[in-house]
Amino acid sequence: MSTEPDVKPLVYNGRADTESISSSSDDGAVQSPLIDTRLSRRSFFAAAGAMGIGAMGAGGASILASKSASAQSTDWTQPGNNNHVIELQEASSFPGGEVKIDFFGHCAIKITSPSGATILFDPWRDDPSGAWGLWFKNEFPETLVDITMSTHTHFDHDAIHRPQSTMVLDRMVGNFEFADLKITGFADKHACIAPGWYKWTNALKEFGVEGCPPNNIGHMDMVVYLVETGGIRTLIWGDNRADPAEGFWDAIGQVDVLTLPVDGSEHILGYGQADAIVERLKPKIVIPTHYLAESTTYTLSTLAPADDWVKAQKSYSMLDSASLSLAAEEVSAMDREFMYFGGNVQTT
Ligand SMILES: [Fe+2]
Ligand SMILES: [Fe+2]
Repeated sequence: MSTEPDVKPLVYNGRADTESISSSSDDGAVQSPLIDTRLSRRSFFAAAGAMGIGAMGAGGASILASKSASAQSTDWTQPGNNNHVIELQEASSFPGGEVKIDFFGHCAIKITSPSGATILFDPWRDDPSGAWGLWFKNEFPETLVDITMSTHTHFDHDAIHRPQSTMVLDRMVGNFEFADLKITGFADKHACIAPGWYKWTNALKEFGVEGCPPNNIGHMDMVVYLVETGGIRTLIWGDNRADPAEGFWDAIGQVDVLTLPVDGSEHILGYGQADAIVERLKPKIVIPTHYLAESTTYTLSTLAPADDWVKAQKSYSMLDSASLSLAAEEVSAMDREFMYFGGNVQTT
């Protein structure tokens, strides 16, 4: 049997990543004898994640510790242009109509306003350091949207380079209005004590960083987004903590559609925590996110489907597609209706 890892060359925004990694890399990564030195840097990390190398000794610690960051934007290579945004910018009025919600797996949700303006939240990728292993079966689709937004810098929420997007509003706090969209970002904090069997938050202490506020490391900061369009108020919870301060709840106000990160392993929110949030906000519709959708996510993520939580609710729908169209009048007549996309995921 060959010891050569089965890693295919990856293509990034239409071009192959050919940057080589050497055994004396300057990022502290440990070179494994199992990994061919001809592998590209991205391929190396994909292989390293599969083998758990990122969590090894001092190399792993340096990966998760806070260090200076540098961005290498490739957005100038993306196809398409801003013609659709200019059309919306020039429009003097906008039609009423339905709001469309498309599920791209994990926490990635696209909202389309009645005028056709599109926002994509939390495109995902595998952890580039390799420390958290392989979560996703594919790269996030290079889908076409007007706006891309991210709730926080964790790998499973921040592939903001993948969509073909005119605007990127990364971790935006405050108000943004465009066409028939109003988006408000509320700064808060990530869930910092894992409620489920997999105590992933213990790893933060092992890597020498604080996960909980007030002195949490920056990647445990969060933004929760409220989207108002077509008469529907949708809250994108991200991986936020279950117990934000009173002022947070007051600022959010009424919520019609609530997305919540709940899966059978209770990775971010426990069932009890999620139930309490639903009880407090009394949304018309609840959409589970951050669960294992087989078409998108590997079991290695430790996530599980959300079926058990959904089926424990008074009223739920197991959706048979990755797309949902909602009219404000119809939504206003609902009460805590759980709508579960299950394994239905948009792939383009
Ligand atoms: Fe997170
Ligand atoms: Fe997450």
